[in-house]
Amino acid sequence: MKRLLLGTLMLGATLSLSAQKEATLTVQADKGTDIIPKEIYGQFAEHLGSCIYGGIWVGENSDIPNIKGYRTDVFNALKALQVPVMRWPGGCFADEYHWMDGIGPRDQRPKMVNNNWGGTVEDNSFGTHEFLNLCEMLGCEPYVSGNVGSGTVEELAKWVEYMTSEGDSPMANLRRKNGRDKAWKVKYLGVGNESWGCGGSMYPEYYSDLYRRYATYCRNYDGNQLFKVASGASDYDYKWTRVLMERAGSMMNGISLHYYTVTGWVGSKGSATQFTPDDYYWTMGKCREIEDVLKKHIAIMDELDPKNNVALLLDEWGTWWDVEPNTIPGHLFQQNTLRDAFVASLSLDIFHKYTRRLKMCNIAQVVNVLQSMILTDGPRMVLTPTYHVFRMYKVHQDATYLPVDIQCDTMQVRDNRTLPLVSATASKDKNGKIHLSISNIDTENARELTIRLNGAQAKGVTGEILTATHINDYNSFDKPETVVPRPFKDARIRKGVLTLTMPAKSIVTLELQ
Ligand code: AHR
Repeated sequence: MKRLLLGTLMLGATLSLSAQKEATLTVQADKGTDIIPKEIYGQFAEHLGSCIYGGIWVGENSDIPNIKGYRTDVFNALKALQVPVMRWPGGCFADEYHWMDGIGPRDQRPKMVNNNWGGTVEDNSFGTHEFLNLCEMLGCEPYVSGNVGSGTVEELAKWVEYMTSEGDSPMANLRRKNGRDKAWKVKYLGVGNESWGCGGSMYPEYYSDLYRRYATYCRNYDGNQLFKVASGASDYDYKWTRVLMERAGSMMNGISLHYYTVTGWVGSKGSATQFTPDDYYWTMGKCREIEDVLKKHIAIMDELDPKNNVALLLDEWGTWWDVEPNTIPGHLFQQNTLRDAFVASLSLDIFHKYTRRLKMCNIAQVVNVLQSMILTDGPRMVLTPTYHVFRMYKVHQDATYLPVDIQCDTMQVRDNRTLPLVSATASKDKNGKIHLSISNIDTENARELTIRLNGAQAKGVTGEILTATHINDYNSFDKPETVVPRPFKDARIRKGVLTLTMPAKSIVTLELQ
């Protein structure tokens, strides 16, 4: 069936007649072996701008409704997202953070200047207790980033003791004095962050030695088993991964990687909401390039760790645009459009393929910073298109990954990248239900999809769709429901074959019965 749709070109500028194209997907429903770890859906919360203060934490005396100081609206939205793991306190902030400033009575905690992020005064009212209690309330694993750049071995060793020791030890007793009797369980410990940059400007050889030294004194107390993560490479720095794996691989459980969808680090990064078709398709190409980057880091790890003992953690990823006009440049507050939603869906589709080695991903960042789930403005809160992708995709957490072959048209985009116009992923959950998420990134053309299910039979299908009138549509505080998921009714199954018509620029998640 072919039909013509009247569609709009992006930015609402031009009306054009859109044609419908075709694509074929084959889901290997009988070939799944790997589980998609729920930690692929991890979050990151840094002391940066209004991520923590105003975004998550308002304090018990705030007029903004809160649960023990955590704003109620944000807490409930995160609970609904099933956040599996949260990284904190940075980022660059982590290597200037001295955890002892953030414990004890809040009115007696010393202040500091947040040198990395706009010189804002940090009053340390959100510290270890506030973070770990939040994780307990959300039911997520904490991922604590330790200070290697400007902190001592002793300081990091004592932090681990403070958080996790049940014994009659100095730090456990200090924790008790501060109101927490039982130790927390803390699994993930980052030993520094971006140690090649804001975390100490080190060479990989030097950092490898430091890693070994710091990691030695981070102990496992009373049944708590640390998963120690070395500060890894940025983007295309394969040498960093190689040197660390060679010199310290035997002492780590994981190594991190950072990859941002960003135009560059010098000058303007482009507006989050005003962009051309060329910018949009470039963004899709750049975000998809993570696949090649993952493959190359993984190849080095496979060579140096053939038994797959060390996990790769992409503990920072997402879009990085110019800050919104009239906001503080160092606070990295950016809007979030349907374009960002596609960066989320395309990235998650790729991450699902590499979970043999890739065990965690943390999008940057959870509230009010970079590619956020949530934006706040005083008492107001809005869920971003990226939030909705994470909500639609949560069905894939801890499900069995099912390979998908995609036949679709491609286009050449800026920087000489070839871009398939359809992306997809599939999984089977613990109850045997198959979920399929598909993105049609073409802004002009709908797509008629034919989906074959190898090794499975489906009788019915339900779904949700995320789309909008324009590719640069976003949810504002005044219009919070511009880009929200809606029921999707255009899928049908006949003789075991699933067919659906996906509108231009849409993301669909289907559940097969
Ligand atoms: O996420 C913002 C910053 O990006 C982090 O603090 C740092 O690790 C990275 O450069």
